[in-house]
Amino acid sequence: MKAVVLVGGQGTRLRPITFDTPKALVPLRNRPFMGYMLDFLRGGGLDGAVLSLGYLPDPIQDYLANWHDLRGFDVDYAVEEHALGTAGGIKNAEEYLDGDPFVVVNGDVLTGMDLAEAIRIHKASDALATITLTSVEDPTAYGLVEVDHDMVVQRFIEKPAADEVTTNLVNAGVYVLEPEVLGMIPAGREVSIEREIFPELQARGRLMAHVSSSYWRDIGTPRSYLAASHDVLSGAVGTDRTNFEYMDVKEDASCGKNVKLLPPLSVAEGCEISDLATIGGRSALGRNCRIGRGAVVEGSILLDGARVDAGAVIRGSIIGRDARVGRGAIVRGLSVLGAGCVVGEGNVLDQGIRVNPGVVLPPRSLRF
Ligand code: GDD
Ligand code: MG
Repeated sequence: MKAVVLVGGQGTRLRPITFDTPKALVPLRNRPFMGYMLDFLRGGGLDGAVLSLGYLPDPIQDYLANWHDLRGFDVDYAVEEHALGTAGGIKNAEEYLDGDPFVVVNGDVLTGMDLAEAIRIHKASDALATITLTSVEDPTAYGLVEVDHDMVVQRFIEKPAADEVTTNLVNAGVYVLEPEVLGMIPAGREVSIEREIFPELQARGRLMAHVSSSYWRDIGTPRSYLAASHDVLSGAVGTDRTNFEYMDVKEDASCGKNVKLLPPLSVAEGCEISDLATIGGRSALGRNCRIGRGAVVEGSILLDGARVDAGAVIRGSIIGRDARVGRGAIVRGLSVLGAGCVVGEGNVLDQGIRVNPGVVLPPRSLRF
C-alpha cells in the first residue's frame, strides 16, 4: 500500500521560517520533519509514498535524494504548477497510484498513532474513506468531526466557529481512501478534501472515523512547532527509545570553560559554545551555531548558522538560519527570527514577534 503525502502548502502560519524552508523540512532534534513522516509510513507497513508537492519542491526532493535510508521504500513526486488544494493534490498524484486503496497524510502531522490499525479498521468496513480523529482542546483551528455510535461520520466542519464546536474530536489528517474517491475529485482546479469531498462522502453515509489516543500534533504554527521539538527532545515521540540519548551533542561541537549543558538537548556538528554559556531546557542547535560568552539558550530552536552573542538570552523562541542576536539582547516569548536577520545589541523581543528574513534591527530599538 502507498501513501500520498500532502506537502504542497506554503506554511504561512510558520513564517518567516517557511519563507526559505518548507514546513516538511523544518528540523526536530536536528532531523528534518520528513524523516519522521517516512518512519511513520514505513512503520505502518506501507511500501511507498507519492509526495504531493507545490511550494518549494526542490529542497524536499533533494532531501529525499540524499536519504540513504529508503531501503526499498519507493518515493514518487507529483509537483503542482499552482496550488490544487488538499484534494487536488491527491488527484494530481493519481498516476502513481495503482488502483488499490491508499493512505493520505497531511505532511505536517507528527504522530505516534497506529497506522496499520487504521488500515485494518478501514478494510473491515464498507466505507469509501476512513479518517482518523484526535482530541484537542480547541477544535477551531482544525476540522471538527461528529460521529455516531458506529463511528459513521455525521458532520465534518472545517475550521468551525466557536459556537459550532460540539465535540473535541478533530480530523487528525491521516486517511485511508478507496480508489473510487479519486473519481469524485474534479481535475485541474483547486479542491479541498475537507470542504468538498468529506461532506459529500458523509452525505452518502460512506465516511467512517477511527479515534486515536496516541501522541498527535500539527507542527504548523510557531507554538506547535516548538512544542513538537520539546516533545521529540524529551523522547515523547518519533524516535526509537532504545538508543535514545537525552544529550545528543555531536563530537566536533566545541565547548568553552564552565559551560552548562542541560538535557534534553541536541547540538549539531560544528557548533561553538563559549565560556560560561548555558544551553538547556529542551533546546536544539543546528549546525555551526555560535554561542557567545555567558549567553543563555533555553527551550529554543536555533537553525543552522545562528549566532547568539555574549550575554544574550534566548528563551522559548525560534532563531532562523544564519540569524544573529547581538550582545545582551533578549529574545523570548515565542519570538521567531527569519533567516539572516540581525537583532542589534540590547533589544528585547517578546510576545510572538516575527522578524522577516534579512531585517536588521538597530541596537536598542525595540523593548517590550
Ligand atoms: N499538494 C498540496 N497542494 N498540498 C497542500 C496544499 C495544496 O494546495 N495546501 C495544503 N497542502 C498540504 C500542507 O502542506 C499540509 O501538509 C497539509 O496539506 C494540510 O494543510 P494545512 O494548511 O496544514 O491545513 P490545516 O492544518 O489548517 O488543516 C488540516 O489539517 C488539520 C490537522 O492537522 C485539515 O485537514 C484539518 O481538517 C485537520 O484537522
Ligand atoms: Mg496543518
